[in-house]
Amino acid sequence: MTDIRDETTDGFRATFGYEPSGLWSAPGRVNLIGEHTDYNLGFVLPFAIDRRTVVALGLRDDRIARVASSFADEVVEIDLSRLDPAALDGWAAYPLGVAWALGARGADLAAVPGFDIFVESDVPVGAGLSSSAAIESAVALALNDVWQLGFDRPQLARVGQLAENEAVGAPTGIMDQSASLLGEKDCAVFLDCRSLESRIVELGLADAGLVVLIMDTGISHEHATGGYAERRASCELGARMLGVDSLRDLGVDDLPRARAELDDVTFRRVRHVVTENQRVLDTVAALASGGPRSIGDLLDASHRSMRDDFEISIAELDLAVETAQANGAIGARMTGGGFGGAAIALVATEDLSRVQVAIDGAFAEHGYGVPDTFVVTAAHGASREY
Ligand code: GLA
Repeated sequence: MTDIRDETTDGFRATFGYEPSGLWSAPGRVNLIGEHTDYNLGFVLPFAIDRRTVVALGLRDDRIARVASSFADEVVEIDLSRLDPAALDGWAAYPLGVAWALGARGADLAAVPGFDIFVESDVPVGAGLSSSAAIESAVALALNDVWQLGFDRPQLARVGQLAENEAVGAPTGIMDQSASLLGEKDCAVFLDCRSLESRIVELGLADAGLVVLIMDTGISHEHATGGYAERRASCELGARMLGVDSLRDLGVDDLPRARAELDDVTFRRVRHVVTENQRVLDTVAALASGGPRSIGDLLDASHRSMRDDFEISIAELDLAVETAQANGAIGARMTGGGFGGAAIALVATEDLSRVQVAIDGAFAEHGYGVPDTFVVTAAHGASREY
């Protein structure tokens, strides 16, 4: 962390020519289980990871907002009174979209000063680890502090989601920002996406001698277009046809009726969401009663459901999952929105290098690109650094 914090301060100073007034950071996330359940108002169980986005911020005495980062050459500048989601594009849509979304959620943007922001991040982009939510959460926390808006963390998660939906144009749910803002060290966040009530759940990985291995396929995904939005539309169609507000209102007992009333594709989309919600509840219960070694089958079943029913996996993700399973992983599944990105495997420490070597070998054998495999730990959520 020290390095990236220093780099962020240096970047701010070099770009804007003065000292920032503070530094805020927010982590990426991994979803342990509960995929495509958030926008169906169901349950998720993500955790914040030890990869963070750091934001240095200085207030200005005019109404200009400027944003810069280590991953783009240009400084993007806009007058606060002209903030509009339609006017934002590129990576600047994330930080400036958050400023706009704070206004849309009730902050009086006519009464606040402009700002300069420099963003630095070590959350891998396009890997399904929510690099975008990390930016949104860090910026939301920073602006909430310096503008003294008094939003609580669940409200800031909504702000980040609104920025993502409107300024970036990705119709995503509330999970990523919630994990980034609410995460705690060594714990997962059990979130009810309807009530937004959350509970911190001990993972107990270290005590069980386990680690979570990320297996990044290197195939980047894009949620503003394509399959993600299509899946969301199928879920909404299924809910409408079954006469419920959201798929959250259905349980596994309702599946026979769903099968009778829906076409095959819509039925399978619905079945994924309904069974996945149940798997999240079962995982939370299993963690409490049997510890993390008892959740392997649930992770495996989640992957099968995403592969066969929701159809959001790809060959590289399936290969990573199967190779991990065949080499001793307790359980494995793709994580995040799908169509690329990463899978996770729950692995005993002593099996870690075997699994990593096997994945490299399997990808080479299939002629796939070189995967990136690395361990993540559950870290604390967004925070002010100084
Ligand atoms: C992406 C979205 C989340 C969630 C997941 C799938 O990460 O940003 O809101 O829908 O996909 O679980």
